[in-house]
Amino acid sequence: MKGRFYVIGVGPGDPELMTLKAIRLLERCPVWLAPKARKEGKSTALTIVERLVPARGKEILTQYFPMKKVRMGKTPAADVEAAWQEAAGAVLKALAAGRDVAFPTLGDPAIYSTGFYVSDTLFRLDPQVRVEIVAGVSAIGASAAAAGKPLCLGDDRMAVIPATFENGELAEILGNFDTVVLMKVHRVMDRIVPLLAELNLLDRAVLVERTSQEGQRIRRNLREIVNEEHHYFSTIIVRK
Ligand SMILES: C[S@@+](CC[C@H](N)C(=O)[O-])C[C@H]1O[C@@H](n2cnc3c(N)ncnc32)[C@H](O)[C@@H]1O
Repeated sequence: MKGRFYVIGVGPGDPELMTLKAIRLLERCPVWLAPKARKEGKSTALTIVERLVPARGKEILTQYFPMKKVRMGKTPAADVEAAWQEAAGAVLKALAAGRDVAFPTLGDPAIYSTGFYVSDTLFRLDPQVRVEIVAGVSAIGASAAAAGKPLCLGDDRMAVIPATFENGELAEILGNFDTVVLMKVHRVMDRIVPLLAELNLLDRAVLVERTSQEGQRIRRNLREIVNEEHHYFSTIIVRK
């Protein structure tokens, strides 16, 4: 296996939040494999990259990854596993031909990124595969910065969780940590807002939409937002 697979964090949207290392490696890799959340739509990660790194001359592969829950230790849905296999197959083909492959991923690869599922699938198919993970600016830090809030100070403890947890689990975590970052909130806002109200945390919460992207909004009054449609790029920070 001659080529190398790079999972590259490209930040939350603003190309200025891409690292120099991400830019250098994307310029160098002849093949880009870009993840898509919709079959027909464009890859967000690719859109971010293309604002700074010319795609001219690159072989651009796209892969649709269904947005379904993956539970650790449980078998993923068949179509989710099939997408990982398909992506890994395409990567292995390029690597075998001696071509490095870049996988641009939103934010930081270590936080809920498909890049790690694809890497794990690659390792299962070929334990000799060479993979490098390139850190990026996560939406977590970028959202806190946009809201002008710290995440942790002193002996604060922080939890980062998908808001799709059941209310009971959410309430327990909200009770146990000083700061809670709720990701993937867009579809569950109608139950998160009443839960925060019940726990007397509504005034401690801020919703950050499209951090560092065009249309960024910081919503400090969550009472106003319940009946709105919410964008996938929405993160709530609760800091007690
Ligand atoms: C699958 S996770 C990916 C997180 C990403 N790896 C990171 O480090 O930011 C997707 C969630 O990240 C959050 N997110 C990603 N980009 C965002 C942005 N620009 N503004 C606000 N939240 C964002 C949202 O909560 C979204 O539902």
